[in-house]
Amino acid sequence: MCSSIHLLAIATFAARRAGEYVLANLHRRTDANAVHRLDVKHKLDVEAQEVATGIIRQAFPDHVIFGEESETGIPSADGYVWIIDPIDGTVNFFHGMHWWCSSVAVRHNGKALAGAVFLPQVNELFQATADGPALCNGMPIRVSGTASPELAAFATGMGKWRSEELAYRLLRAISDFAQRPRMFGSAAADMCMVAAGRMDGFFESGIHVWDMAAAGLIVERAGGTAEVLRAFPDGCLAVLATNGKLHAASRDVLLPILCEFG
Ligand code: IPD
Ligand code: CA
Repeated sequence: MCSSIHLLAIATFAARRAGEYVLANLHRRTDANAVHRLDVKHKLDVEAQEVATGIIRQAFPDHVIFGEESETGIPSADGYVWIIDPIDGTVNFFHGMHWWCSSVAVRHNGKALAGAVFLPQVNELFQATADGPALCNGMPIRVSGTASPELAAFATGMGKWRSEELAYRLLRAISDFAQRPRMFGSAAADMCMVAAGRMDGFFESGIHVWDMAAAGLIVERAGGTAEVLRAFPDGCLAVLATNGKLHAASRDVLLPILCEFG
């Protein structure tokens, strides 16, 4: 069994190096393979995933590694599986916004053991292991204590719509439920804001495992709750991450809407 400290060191090194690689190539921010209405397929996404993969492969040659840019499907949960999101918030990055990050997590038999999320332009590094505290730039972080939904700041996203009607229903529900919905454009970074107590909750339907694998662990280790409310057959997930106090109430609002749309 690998030590969680060693796994975190490699996850951190891989996330940092991927982020630094992208940062060093800021002049190429519009150098995309394809720009669609709902997404940007960026060359730097592919290159940064290679940077992270090289670091992990050198440390753990036998482990399975995959990420947003992998052409293989999501691997089985057996053994050690590394999960990379080279640029989470690619649309932000493409437009010159600072809110993007590189995320690396490692799971063993499906359980998250370590994760790192690095925001190069904000200069913040979030980390956690399954048996240690969540950290931001080396300092312990904690979720907020907000218990009233009407005082809760909720981050959300409408990245890749499963159905436009569903996306608007969910946004409306969050807007009615919380103090203010916020849409920053990087699920992993937004979840780290929940971990740090700057946001009280995060919800998005239509994200993927690479968007939330590291940040979900960081939220949990900061005292919050991260839950996949629904896993769709195409691999998309509906993920709710909160400070814990707001979890049941927000789940009760969102889950029936998800179920209604099949
Ligand atoms: C996206 C971001 C965005 C979310 C999308 C994700 P990407 O990831 O996390 O906030 O709304 O659903 O796909 O494509 O920038 O890696
Ligand atoms: Ca992503």
